Amino acid sequence: MSMPDASKIPVVDLTEAQAKAELERLAAEIGAHDRRYYQEDAPTVSDAAYDALRRRNEEIEGRFPALVRADSPSRSVGAQPSQKFAKVRHTVPMLSLGNAFADAEVAEFVERVRRFLRLPADERAVFTAEPKIDGLSCTLRYENGRLVRGATRGDGTEGEDVTANVRTLADIPKELRGKNAPEICEVRGEVYMTKSAFLALNERQRAAGKQIFANPRNSAAGSLRQLDAAITASRPLGFFAYSWGEMSPMPAQTQSGMIKWFAARGFKINPLMQVCDSIDAMLVFHHEIEAQRGSLDYDIDGVVYKVDRLDWQERLGFVSRNPRWAIAHKFPAEKATTVVKDIDIQVGRTGALTPVAKLEPVTVGGVVVQNATLHNADEIERLGVRLGDTVTIQRAGDVIPQVLGVIMEKRPKSAKPYKFPSRCPCPLHTAVVRETTASGEEGAVARCTGEFACPHQKVEHLKHFVSRRAFDIEGLGEKQITLFFEQEWVTEPAQIFTLEPRNARIKLQEQEGFGEVSVRNLFNAIRARREIALERFIYALGMRHVGETTARALARGYGSWPAFHEACLRIAAGDAETRAEMDNLDQIGETVIDSIAAYFGEKHNRGIVERLTAQLKILDAEKPASDSAVAGKTVVFTGSLEKMTRDEAKAMAERLGAKVAGSVSQKTDYVVAGPGAGSKLGKAKDLGVAVLSEDEWFDLVRQGAS
Ligand code: IVH
Repeated sequence: MSMPDASKIPVVDLTEAQAKAELERLAAEIGAHDRRYYQEDAPTVSDAAYDALRRRNEEIEGRFPALVRADSPSRSVGAQPSQKFAKVRHTVPMLSLGNAFADAEVAEFVERVRRFLRLPADERAVFTAEPKIDGLSCTLRYENGRLVRGATRGDGTEGEDVTANVRTLADIPKELRGKNAPEICEVRGEVYMTKSAFLALNERQRAAGKQIFANPRNSAAGSLRQLDAAITASRPLGFFAYSWGEMSPMPAQTQSGMIKWFAARGFKINPLMQVCDSIDAMLVFHHEIEAQRGSLDYDIDGVVYKVDRLDWQERLGFVSRNPRWAIAHKFPAEKATTVVKDIDIQVGRTGALTPVAKLEPVTVGGVVVQNATLHNADEIERLGVRLGDTVTIQRAGDVIPQVLGVIMEKRPKSAKPYKFPSRCPCPLHTAVVRETTASGEEGAVARCTGEFACPHQKVEHLKHFVSRRAFDIEGLGEKQITLFFEQEWVTEPAQIFTLEPRNARIKLQEQEGFGEVSVRNLFNAIRARREIALERFIYALGMRHVGETTARALARGYGSWPAFHEACLRIAAGDAETRAEMDNLDQIGETVIDSIAAYFGEKHNRGIVERLTAQLKILDAEKPASDSAVAGKTVVFTGSLEKMTRDEAKAMAERLGAKVAGSVSQKTDYVVAGPGAGSKLGKAKDLGVAVLSEDEWFDLVRQGAS
């Protein structure tokens, strides 16, 4: 007996057997649509038709809960790749590099390294020097010699799983060459597209009416991040190995040794790399590479110097996201000339008014530029720029293009001087005030005094809240936030998390640029962010002077949101002891504390924070993994140290999970005192805090570190 076609029968009339067949059909059909949508970027049904299928599935399941299938589409909603690629947490963070522009900054870098390591004058410091490739960095994990995972850098902590894609690159071996492969080997480097391949690709894309890429870096990124690895395979991508993550055992003791080892194991390494043993040699290398820049078939934007000895790299460690043992020496920014059509005022998150020159579009270093910052009113005056002027602009890396100067010979008679507004361009037209500096002078920054009433500031706050280093909600960028704000769907952060239940009224899926699927993805992405790391959360609040590094220091210092929140409220209420405690945290000073006090001193902000935290689960700060005897302890260094510099001692203590404080309090566990220690030593004795000599400190540090 054949089953009647159940797809036409209303849900209320289905028999159990028909319902079972329907659920099976719907699972298969919705699954097929999902694949076409997510993996092939080629849906074959309208959003509305797709949604009707899902609704029917849910209704049937509502009537027959016992029939819900293991592979039901309703179960896979959360796991649906709302982000298209799976996320991968890096075993060792992927960091960025500090920049140097002038030769003198390179000399300072070398001096810093020498000072940190306390190198005697006759000890040579050797550096590798290599081109800085303008592509995207990737990490490749090999286990027992086999490639098991490829991931993009992402935010440095978490990237995207692009294993299938990297496997298609000819420069990336699927198996390490040679015998005795290390158990674990993570090779890092740059995926790039040659300039000639980029031009040819754009030619093909144009002919096919497809997306045109702005520059080789974008096209490399776009080509690697393809859900269909066959597309990646069709794009000519290269890979240079220059760094590593987890590696056991270590095959070499120097940077240059590691690079040679990569080559021996089957990787492409940059042929221009050199070893330099003086600042002069490094600068000569920089000039030589700059001279070759145009004739190389891949884009580079500078050179990178790295301390060659790996034991020194380890001692030098990191500051924030940058290694102390490496620096990027950038090439000068690219320049162009164009005409200023107008000057707009943008109001930032903190109310600062920034004039922006609207330009006749011009290509600078392969990118079309239409806006350039003029920073502030003083800068407009200094440049003497008028509307209609021809100006020189420059663009360096990812920074906003700047106006450098006016070409006076080209000034037309009609050029109009610009008058800086005295009122905010927001609908409130609030008065604009010039900030006064610490010395009482008028500062350069003009601010809108509207604060929370100023819609520009509000929307900028929201943009900051969802930005990459803050909540980073996929599908909720500046464009969407601006729309939601204008429609008054989201006027403060907490409302992002109440959007979904309010959508019955809002009907986001009916807005231009949205559909059933994208709205569902957005809600999934928002839901996924209801759990958030403490440091991200603190950063997302957007308090002035609380950037990423400060937020991290605060998160580590307080460990949990309740502890931090309480401290903030106390400080705002004028509690001196809590203030002193916060001041005691490394990297936290008066400016930050004043800003926190001001923020939590505002009733309006306290409300925003309360409504927001009610929607979230804020995860406690991760304790630095360490079995060292000093993990979690608070240490103060005082007097001069003889075995290492104060900076190095501090960095080492932090690496082992200790907190380094600037002054002694009841919370101090150890004071490490060298010769010449003064009042801090006295205070430690008064408070009964353990005082250690430098040697005793090293003995302590070695405990448990083995
Ligand atoms: S070393 C811990 N070497 O530059 C330092 N980076 O600004 C690891 N890059 O994310 C990076 N060429 O994408 C290094 N020869 C090179 C590089 C290079 C390009 C990129 C890389 C990194 C960024 C840092």
